[in-house]
Amino acid sequence: MFDFADYSSYGERFSEKYDEWYGSFDERIIDRIEEMAAGGSVFELGIGTGRVAIPLAKRGLRVAGMDSSPAMLEKLKQKKSGEQVTVEVGDFASFETDEKYDVVYIIFNTLFALHSQEEQVNCFKCVEKILKPGGKFIVEAFVPDPSRFPGGQTVRTVDLKEDNVKIECSTHDAAGQLVTSQMVDISDGGIKLYPIKIRYIWPAEMDLMARLAGLQLEERWSNWGKASFSASSGMHVSIYGKA
Ligand SMILES: C[S@@+](CC[C@H](N)C(=O)[O-])C[C@H]1O[C@@H](n2cnc3c(N)ncnc32)[C@H](O)[C@@H]1O
Repeated sequence: MFDFADYSSYGERFSEKYDEWYGSFDERIIDRIEEMAAGGSVFELGIGTGRVAIPLAKRGLRVAGMDSSPAMLEKLKQKKSGEQVTVEVGDFASFETDEKYDVVYIIFNTLFALHSQEEQVNCFKCVEKILKPGGKFIVEAFVPDPSRFPGGQTVRTVDLKEDNVKIECSTHDAAGQLVTSQMVDISDGGIKLYPIKIRYIWPAEMDLMARLAGLQLEERWSNWGKASFSASSGMHVSIYGKA
């Protein structure tokens, strides 16, 4: 039974499909994080199947991370070089680590997986505590667009093939900044549901969360190629620094 309130539910449900559906990504992400870490140590929040963490470890960085889902971490461990990454099961709403890091990063909208503003602010505070002086916190996220939800809902065809269709059905709570979705995967084998719930954060709100935690926005790009961010950007890569 899926439970939105249980932060391990997403990964436990998605782990079988995750790399098939989301395996390809902008590989400049690896270059940017490597540059910022400058040969040091990095920690990924919501490390998942290690899509980004494993390539970073192969480039010689010390890579560690946390995820709420044992099933996602099991996928990471099964991969070639997965053993080079240190992982732990945990909740990035509230955590601490023994070590301090040069870079902490959270990508692919994963900060939005926390369902309350309070938890998101607390996440920033926890990150500040595990960063070395001069360390960076990198966040990749989409820029919210409430116009995607006319009448508070939307239905979108994600993929369509001869023998399969994936449809995403979502409802939107504008006051709570919450989007609740079902990815509906339909094939001859039957129908499978993949639930997702997020609380999106506006870029300015995120900067305030960082300031509450003692971190300052240093750079904001609209992609991993460092393109400048503007009012029409659909996503952002934000770099927060610790003094
Ligand atoms: C969208 S996936 C991203 C995985 C990985 N960062 C990547 O880019 O491939 C989100 C990940 O965050 C994990 N997650 C969600 N909520 C979490 C929480 N509160 N604490 C720790 N991990 C969480 C999920 O289990 C999942 O592995």
